[in-house]
Amino acid sequence: MSDFTSNFWSVFVAGVTIVGILACLALLWISGKTKAMTAADNTTGHVWDGDLREMNNPLPRWWVGLFIITCLFGFAYLFLYPGLGTYAGSLKWSQAGQFDREVARGNEQVAPIYAAFAGKRTEDLAKDPQAMAIGDRLFLNNCAQCHGSDARGSRGFPNLTDAQWNWGGAPDAILESISKGRTGIMAPMGAAVGTSDDVRNVANYVLSLSSSPHDSVRANLGRAKFVACAACHGQDGKGNQALGAPNLTTGIFTHGPGVESHIVNMINNGKTGVMPAWDGKFSPDQLKVLAAYVWGKGGGVAAAAPAPAADAASVAVENGVVKFYFATGKADIAGGAGQALADIVAGVQAGKKAVVSGFVDSSGNAAQNEELAKQRALAVRDQLKALGVAEDRIELQKPGNIDAGADAQARRVEVSLV
Ligand code: HEC
Ligand code: HEC
Repeated sequence: MSDFTSNFWSVFVAGVTIVGILACLALLWISGKTKAMTAADNTTGHVWDGDLREMNNPLPRWWVGLFIITCLFGFAYLFLYPGLGTYAGSLKWSQAGQFDREVARGNEQVAPIYAAFAGKRTEDLAKDPQAMAIGDRLFLNNCAQCHGSDARGSRGFPNLTDAQWNWGGAPDAILESISKGRTGIMAPMGAAVGTSDDVRNVANYVLSLSSSPHDSVRANLGRAKFVACAACHGQDGKGNQALGAPNLTTGIFTHGPGVESHIVNMINNGKTGVMPAWDGKFSPDQLKVLAAYVWGKGGGVAAAAPAPAADAASVAVENGVVKFYFATGKADIAGGAGQALADIVAGVQAGKKAVVSGFVDSSGNAAQNEELAKQRALAVRDQLKALGVAEDRIELQKPGNIDAGADAQARRVEVSLV
């Protein structure tokens, strides 16, 4: 396609090209016809150094032949391929088309490799040497300029190998950081905090959260002012991954050293960090490999257990521990628990003991809760007995832990094999 508004230049270039070739042929023809002035001895009369004379021989035939073939080749080429202005050539070849074909061929070649990764969980992919070799190359070519070739980051660019995650270190969170990009915005907060002394005090309070060197008098004075920060960094300063607000209690600072001047600077000037989005550049398979690569760098966090539906019984297996969740006030085992129960039975048959312990949520009467926990543990025990597990292979633990936190998570019985 021409980038010009009229096709003048296209016609001009095509014209110059064709006229150029025709002119070459004409030159050959004319010089073949024209007789140079020749002396009787077939020399041109030019003499150098006394007896070096220029002969007037015709062009060698083989040379003329090659010259004509070259011109014909030129015409044929210009007919088949693009070369005359915007004329596309009869073969319709284009660089872009060639590139697309090569990319398609390349993708076809790697498809079987990625197909082998398709069903794998991020955690398993991170242990697959072939996937990690690909991840390493993708990372070095696309991410290392910001995050460093060892992924340890640098000033302003987060270290991806530690346990500090602004946006989350679970497989899904990392995948989302990479594919959709992230923008972390910390607004300038100086005015909201107060005087420059107030800012210094808050800065020292922030440093105290991670037991970094700080002035404890200032830290105490700054504590109250931290409310301005709590909306994002949390009351306890542990951050908020939904906003990309870092945990300030770890002593890991991306934007500068853990000293007062840096924190004061952050408070006064704020900071916007941008992680570009990559979903346009990489295929979903490649993004998954990259996420596994980053996850496996050391900081990866296990995928969050799917939270059981608010008030329904369910079963989950985590780290080899089977967790039976119960509905509020109920001791009925979830339907669909068959596989988990079968696994326990198999474990016991292999010589292990099933340790059953109950947990309850924090709501309501404590004595009733304890009774309920017992009922639930007994329900699980009875279920196991019904499946043929001998009673002496089952150990009931006192329902000690009254879990704080998410109630649906707390209403459970755990069975572990020991
Ligand atoms: C232009 C620089 C740049 C490039 C290139 C880049 N990143 Fe980032 N990345 C950042 C910045 C800056 C952040 C922090 C964003 C913020 O302020 O929260 C970030 C954040 C992240 C996070 C989230 C970290 C956390 O704490 O939650 C992950 C994961 C990540 N990058 C992975 C990658 C991968 C994988 C690549 C290569 C495909 C990549 N990045 C390429 C600049 C970059
Ligand atoms: C609107 C939400 C928000 C508020 C309010 C906020 N922050 Fe932040 N803060 C962030 C985000 C997001 C980042 C990460 C910026 C980035 O890396 O892109 C950050 C980064 C920081 C950092 C840098 C950490 C590092 O890794 O170097 C410090 C220190 C900090 N905040 C302290 C404070 C203090 C003190 C206050 C209160 C005066 C405060 N923030 C208020 C969102 C907030």
